Amino acid sequence: MVEMEPWEEHAIRRPHLPERVTVYEVGPRDGLQNEAETLSLEVRAEFIDALAEAGLPAIEVGSFVSPKAIPQLADSEELYRRIHPVSGVRYPALVPNLKGLERALSVGVREIAVFTAASETFNRKNINAGVDESIERFRPVVARAKEEKIRVRGYVSTVFGCPYEGDVSPEAVREVVHKLLDLSVDEISLGDTIGVATPADVYDVIEALYDSGVTRGVLALHFHDTRGTALANVFAGLECGVTTYDASAGGLGGCPYAPGASGNLATEDLLYMLEGLGVATGVTLARVVEASRRLAESLGHRPSGRYLAAVWGSNG
Ligand code: COA
Ligand code: ZN
Repeated sequence: MVEMEPWEEHAIRRPHLPERVTVYEVGPRDGLQNEAETLSLEVRAEFIDALAEAGLPAIEVGSFVSPKAIPQLADSEELYRRIHPVSGVRYPALVPNLKGLERALSVGVREIAVFTAASETFNRKNINAGVDESIERFRPVVARAKEEKIRVRGYVSTVFGCPYEGDVSPEAVREVVHKLLDLSVDEISLGDTIGVATPADVYDVIEALYDSGVTRGVLALHFHDTRGTALANVFAGLECGVTTYDASAGGLGGCPYAPGASGNLATEDLLYMLEGLGVATGVTLARVVEASRRLAESLGHRPSGRYLAAVWGSNG
């Protein structure tokens, strides 16, 4: 007998999804580093405080990188001094080297993120180091962070494609992920820097990682919505059991070293879909909208998030 496809039987099989996920907010860092205008410290601190009040459990505040590379975030020390930490909320910062770690420690940062890529050319343009060289640069950074009992995230950019090299293989991703895990980072965020992934690519990469012994719990997914596939990719990630998703309030962002990278997946769009699916986050969508609305007033333009556009309508 020929087996029927579920849709032919009119039997819809709903996938089993995680009951709860962590939304890791990157708007203040990944978002604002790509805005031409540098917002005042006051506006950025208020934005971060509003996101924490909305219930976001992790908010990437800024980066301690070369001020020549990212002038918009050069004053991250001062920003850390201005925010009002909410108990239980994590406030990580991006750190490229020991100098960055020292700067972060000087203002009491308790979680850092180091960052590399799955492709050589992007990495050289972004942090002036090849993949292996970047891993060697992080070795003392992660060791020192561990001494300080600081949590470390490892970002892998260009997991699904590189603006300079094109396709990136799941094997290349697997290699760099294992190099980061060997440094004993606590979490790995897989980044679709230029927003090219489709759900099929998500299955391929995650399958290659699971097959090589990577556990579900260490993975986070970071999508940009350049081609409109970010939410579909999140859904594929949920089907694979991944429980941490990066997003940017309002859909702010991109990456200055990735031509054509448009906004990150908007936090509001992600929350709307998760709520509909019954996946808990602990975040209040309306309060994120309010934070984005206030930020947009200072930015002078509306960021690209779809949910925002829908609720603001023509008077936005
Ligand atoms: N904080 C502040 N300044 C830093 C720094 C840090 N963490 N690391 C390096 N610098 C300064 C150095 O002091 C030096 O300054 P000088 O020219 O006044 O002497 C200059 O930057 C170059 O330092 P060097 O160690 O030679 O680094 P590099 O030129 O090879 O650049 C990085 C490497 C990683 C510092 C730089 O490429 C960078 O900051 N990239 C970040 C990019 C980014 O944030 N991308 C966003 C993620 S998508
Ligand atoms: Zn990004």
